[in-house]
Amino acid sequence: MPEPTSLHPETDVLTRGFDPQLSVGSARPAVFRSSTYVFSSPEAAERAFDLMGGRAQRTADENVDLVYSRFNHPNAQILEDQILPLEPGAAGAVAFNSGMAAIMTALLAVLQPGDSLIYTIPIYGGTQTLIQGFLQPFGITGIAVQAGDGGAIDRAISAAKNLRVILIETPANPTVIMTDIGRACRTAESVAGERPVVMIDNTFLGPAFQHPLLLGADVSLYSATKYLGGYSDIIGGVALVRDPGLLAKIRSKRSLFGNILQPDECWILNTRLPTVALRMNRQSKNAQRIAESLNDHPKVQRVYYPTLFEDAEQKRIYEEQCQHPGGLFSIDLKGGKRAAFEMLRRLKLARNAVSLGGVETLACHPRSTTHSAWSAKDLDEAGIGEGLVRISCGIEDWQDLLADFEQALEHA
Ligand SMILES: Cc1ncc(COP(=O)(O)O)c(C=O)c1O
Repeated sequence: MPEPTSLHPETDVLTRGFDPQLSVGSARPAVFRSSTYVFSSPEAAERAFDLMGGRAQRTADENVDLVYSRFNHPNAQILEDQILPLEPGAAGAVAFNSGMAAIMTALLAVLQPGDSLIYTIPIYGGTQTLIQGFLQPFGITGIAVQAGDGGAIDRAISAAKNLRVILIETPANPTVIMTDIGRACRTAESVAGERPVVMIDNTFLGPAFQHPLLLGADVSLYSATKYLGGYSDIIGGVALVRDPGLLAKIRSKRSLFGNILQPDECWILNTRLPTVALRMNRQSKNAQRIAESLNDHPKVQRVYYPTLFEDAEQKRIYEEQCQHPGGLFSIDLKGGKRAAFEMLRRLKLARNAVSLGGVETLACHPRSTTHSAWSAKDLDEAGIGEGLVRISCGIEDWQDLLADFEQALEHA
């Protein structure tokens, strides 16, 4: 377990977790592309297996031989150590080969057939399919509650039988509706018997603007493909965990499933950590300026963005829970699907692609792409209309981006 330090996250992320002497003096970590590791002695091999199998406990300062890269490897260790200061309250991190792998493995480390799980909707489509199409047939009851409705979440928590996990995605995609993390954690405390594990998908505002573990959550989950990776060039995921016992369970499931992030991707993700706050700050400033400018545009019905929330409860949650509004917003066009498609076709700087969080601006039509599996009723209820366009702001000059959206809207 890495030692906590008194440094600020911006310093800590650059100075911890890596000893140049272990990379022949290289100022940046080497990539260790080995599937297996040579033991220092047969006794050391036996000890490593005893520790891995839970038959022995590691003593303080004990150096344990590496074994095999499906279990662990130096680049994962460096990444998992360096990412820690970005998520205050975490005892450890576990790196995965996708965001979905992080979510699935964290859930399966806790849930057994017969258990139930509460989850907020709307939620990322892959997560919804995992729950409804895989966990439910597997004997786990999924209980969907409306994101943002704290009362409904409280009632679901009180009523659920064998409740083991509460999974909240906040803000929710693509209308940025927010759920009160602290309230769900407090209600979870009142459950008789073992407290359910509260997991937050923190992909949209973390790690810069929202810190779920400080609000009482147990696990902060990421699609590292998005802001952490930041350049739309890798797929990855991370779970940051408060309790060492739960951390060990998630790690052990990762060893079994074989979904650890590979050394090259760990190395790439590592290089992105020191700039994640810089990028997210710039993306958030760009998004705020553009979203607020487009709010009065004659072709725009509504802009979904935290600083434009009208609902008092949503405003409260945003102000209490988040440091900045983030780089993601959606605009609902008056002309419906035709207007949305025309706008996307005419964009010159922003690109028409799904995903988000990269340094380049991306725009998509959720109803016909990311959320196309939903029923029309569910889409309408979630506010994902025919005219909705989701925009992930990059780090370009905001005035160039605004001009691009305005010229594209001329055709909408
Ligand atoms: C909020 C959220 N969670 C999880 C995922 C899944 O991440 P990945 O594509 O890295 O598996 C995504 C992907 O879009 C997402 O937006």
